[in-house]
Amino acid sequence: MTLAVSPISDYLKSLHASLQSNDDGEVATYIPELGLADPGSFGICIATVDGQVYTAGDVDRRFTIQSMSKPFIYGYALHTHGMETVLKRVGVEPTGESFNSIVLDQVSNRPYNPMVNAGAIAVTSLVEGETADRRYDEMMRYFGLFAGRDLDIDESVFRSEHATGHRNRAIAYMMLNTGMLDRDPEDVLELYFKQCSISVDCRDMAVMAATLAAQGTNPVTGETVLEPDHVRDVLTVMSTCGMYDYAGQWAFDVGVPAKSGVSGGVIAVIPGQLGIAVYSPPLDRVGNSVRGVEACKKISHDFSLHVFDGRTDVHSVIRREYTAADVPSKRVRSMWERDMLADHGKRLSVMEIQGALFFGSAEKFLRRLTEIAREGRTVIVDFKRAAYADRTAIELICQTALVLSSGDCTIVFTELSGKEELQGLKSALEERVGSSPRVRLVSDTDLAIELFEDEILAETDFSLYDRILPLAEIDIFDGLSKDDLQRLSGVATTFQYAAGDKIISEGDDARVFFVVARGSVSVSVTVDGSRTRRIGSVGQGAPFGEMALLDGGKRSADVIADVPVICYLFSVERLREMSDEAPAILPTILGNLVRILSDRLRLANDEIRALQ
Ligand code: DON
Repeated sequence: MTLAVSPISDYLKSLHASLQSNDDGEVATYIPELGLADPGSFGICIATVDGQVYTAGDVDRRFTIQSMSKPFIYGYALHTHGMETVLKRVGVEPTGESFNSIVLDQVSNRPYNPMVNAGAIAVTSLVEGETADRRYDEMMRYFGLFAGRDLDIDESVFRSEHATGHRNRAIAYMMLNTGMLDRDPEDVLELYFKQCSISVDCRDMAVMAATLAAQGTNPVTGETVLEPDHVRDVLTVMSTCGMYDYAGQWAFDVGVPAKSGVSGGVIAVIPGQLGIAVYSPPLDRVGNSVRGVEACKKISHDFSLHVFDGRTDVHSVIRREYTAADVPSKRVRSMWERDMLADHGKRLSVMEIQGALFFGSAEKFLRRLTEIAREGRTVIVDFKRAAYADRTAIELICQTALVLSSGDCTIVFTELSGKEELQGLKSALEERVGSSPRVRLVSDTDLAIELFEDEILAETDFSLYDRILPLAEIDIFDGLSKDDLQRLSGVATTFQYAAGDKIISEGDDARVFFVVARGSVSVSVTVDGSRTRRIGSVGQGAPFGEMALLDGGKRSADVIADVPVICYLFSVERLREMSDEAPAILPTILGNLVRILSDRLRLANDEIRALQ
């Protein structure tokens, strides 16, 4: 998709306009057909790792891929044969020489790297297939996966190069001589020339570069073309060898893996962010597109894309830290429970983790985790905003949890469920520390805080919870006379629910309200039409469904019994009918309800303040 209005499109358009007048350089003519290219043709395209494409200029103009094919066919060879086999055929050392130098490593007889012609021809010889046609189909299939569409070759460029590519012939025969080629060199050259003649446009090349930026998954089709480890290998040789004898200066000026081709294309890959493609046929002395190099230099500078620009941030890995005294669970609790928890809430710390977890960021938050845990506090590590964890981060987190689990603190990891990017971390924790009583995995942070609070309250006097709370001890009935309480108990219905029973359904009419006499219930809402999200719970002595007293509208949430529950149920209609014989009941309940609701509002404000 191309965005019609965007600061990035505007930027590319003005960059394009500012470079269009630069007519330095010469169109390549050593392959005669390339000499026919229009020197004024100029396109710039950026594709992001999530498939957004920004363009300026001639982005639909077709040209041949030439040497920009080399990283992709190297990826193919790694993917199909594995690194060990490929390394026997081609090294990874920059030559500092031009792309067509006829030189092999004296010791190993290998071409120096897969970005020079010799290396690329050796790599092309690894394309699989019984016959030349099959090998051609196989190669085209693979390039098509990167571009996200079926590609063709430009027959006239192919014929032109086939007729004149004698230097490449010399290279291929030299490699036959050293044992680096084990197929008929003419056969391999034909496929190599076809590979260089694949017809693409700027948009194709940007998507291909973005596929490398997205660790091998095509951002437009979603198809995985290359494993991340091999993407890393490809990007490494692009960084050191992709721009030939300009590689050092390019690394200095632009600082991202790149590859150029004699047709005038340049691609650059910004790992994790985007792919850039520029097409402009006039080349500089070393064979790189003049406008292509200038455009990449400018984009890299203006968007701070140089890999050493220091955007890797370990400092913000801890989003915030708070205690259960600052932010208690969403459970509706009685006054005395809240007083109790206000004293003890500081024994639980919550650390919210954000962003990517790799060595630096994991080391930083684990250092802080260890510090808090050593003070004997319970720590919840909330991964809700963590983006992903690499294998080093997973290892460090597991090892730290293992060490801490032998002390007297409890570590609770939350918000790891249902997140594909954190599945590896979740599985590793389950496997390696899941059996430790001091390490827990809990689906959400609020539930984990609530469990902690329950443990604190259980330390005090659990027998209190084991009985059915009489109406006289319930906050919402505070201030009612003995007689009124007696009358109220006459209209109360007592219900028992098994754990998991649904007591209230979202959308039902609200005509009655409940008070928990024993046990607790969870309140959850439906989000995005299907997912349920637990938003809190209600404990002994607290009311739920109480909005029926105020507006009598529809239920706004589901309420489900957490454990075997006993509730009092009151019909609002019935309470109204009692107004003549007992005029104080309804106003007292409503007065208490206002107090309870304003109290909840105050708590919510405190929480917002604590979370700032
Ligand atoms: O092998 C050749 O000479 C061409 N088919 C490809 C050369 C190329 O694109 C070099 N890159 N800058």
